[in-house]
Amino acid sequence: MTDFIELEKRCEFDVYFKREIVLVRGKNAKVWDDKGREYVDCVAGHGVASLGHCNERIVQAIEKQARSLISCAGTFHNDTRALFLERLLSIAPARLKRAFLCNSGTEAIEAAIKFTRFTTGKKEFITAMRGFHGRTMGALSATFNPEYRKEFEPIVPGFHYVPFNQFEKLAEKVTDQSAGIILEPVQGEGGVHVGDPDYFAKVRQLCDERGLLLILDEVQTGFCRTGKMFACQRFAVEPDILCVAKAIAGGVPMGAVLCSDQVQPPTGKHGSTFGGNPLSCAAGIAAIEYMLENRLDEQAREKGEYFVSRLKAREFQIVREIRHLGLMVGIELKTKSTPYLMKLMEKGVLALPAGATVMRFLPPLTISREELDFVADKVAEVLRSG
Ligand SMILES: Cc1ncc(COP(=O)(O)O)c(C=O)c1O
Repeated sequence: MTDFIELEKRCEFDVYFKREIVLVRGKNAKVWDDKGREYVDCVAGHGVASLGHCNERIVQAIEKQARSLISCAGTFHNDTRALFLERLLSIAPARLKRAFLCNSGTEAIEAAIKFTRFTTGKKEFITAMRGFHGRTMGALSATFNPEYRKEFEPIVPGFHYVPFNQFEKLAEKVTDQSAGIILEPVQGEGGVHVGDPDYFAKVRQLCDERGLLLILDEVQTGFCRTGKMFACQRFAVEPDILCVAKAIAGGVPMGAVLCSDQVQPPTGKHGSTFGGNPLSCAAGIAAIEYMLENRLDEQAREKGEYFVSRLKAREFQIVREIRHLGLMVGIELKTKSTPYLMKLMEKGVLALPAGATVMRFLPPLTISREELDFVADKVAEVLRSG
C-alpha cells in the first residue's frame, strides 16, 4: 500500500504543521483515515464543511454543472453565476448590493483593501490585535500577529492595530488618512474572542461620522456558523464591505466581497481567473438553499448552546474560559493546547488550535447531538488526564 504520508513529505513543502494521519473519506460530521479509523471532525476543513462532508445536495449540483460548463471567464456572462450572485445578495445585509467573486478568504480581503483605497482615495486601515485576515501581502498586513509577518517584511504600509472590543482605543487612531476599519465579528484564529455588539454599533457610527468604510471579515463566521446567516446580523450592524469564503460553497473553493452602493471598484483593474467559475457557483446555490431549508442558523445556535452546556457541566482545573458564538467554540486552557488536541485525535475527535492556548471546535453545523456528546466526553477525558 502506498505510504501517503511519506509521499507528501517528499513532494510537498513543509508549510503546515501536519498531523500524521491520512484522511481519505468523509460523510457529514465524520471522516475516515486510510486505515479505516473514524473521527468526529470538529476541524471541518477549518470551518469549510459546515453542511457536512460530501453533502448530497452539493455533490449533485457539482455533478450536474460539470456536465454543462466548468469554467467561464469573468469577461463573459454566465447563467449559473448570475443566479448565484442573486441568491448570495438576497441573504446578505440589505445595504450590500453587488459582489466580486474570488477563490479564498485572503483574496476577498485583498479585494476589499483595493476597493476601499480606490473608493475613498485614502490609504490607511485600522484593524484589531489578535485579528487574522489571511496570508497574502495585503491580508497579512491587516493581520496583527507579528509571527505571521516578520519574515516577509516589508508589508503593505498603512495598517494600524488596536485592542479588540475597546472603542476609545480605536477611535483615537482615526485620522484624515483613514480609509477603513477591518474587523472580524468573532476573532477565530486569534482565540475565539466574541465581539461586543455595543462596540460594533459604535464602530459603525464612527465610520458614518468620519467617512470610513466598515469592512467585516466573515470568512470564518459567515454562513450560519454563529447562529445567524452572518455574525453581523447578531449585532444588528451592517458593514459597507463583507468578506466571505470558507463555507460559502459547501466545500468547493470560493470567496466573495459584498459591497454597498458606496463602494466603487474600478473597471479593468481587478479580477480573478477562477473567480465566479460555474462549478463553484452551482455548489454555492445548492449550499445556500440547503442552509435556508434546513435552518442551519438555528441549528448552530441550539447545538452551540447544547455543546457548551455539556462542557460547562464539568469542572476542569486547566480551563481558563470557554467562549462561543453559535457553533464556533473555544476552550482557553491555562497551558498550551496542542498536546491536548493530539490526545483528542487519538480518541477519535479532530479539533484545531486558535493561538497557543485555545482548543477550537468548528464542526459541521449538521453534526448530531450524539456526536456532540461524544466530543464533550472525549474533551473531558483529555482535560482530566492532565
Ligand atoms: C477570519 C479569516 N479571514 C481570512 C482568512 C483567510 O482565508 P483563506 O485561508 O481562505 O485565504 C481566514 C482563514 O482562516 C480567516 O479565518
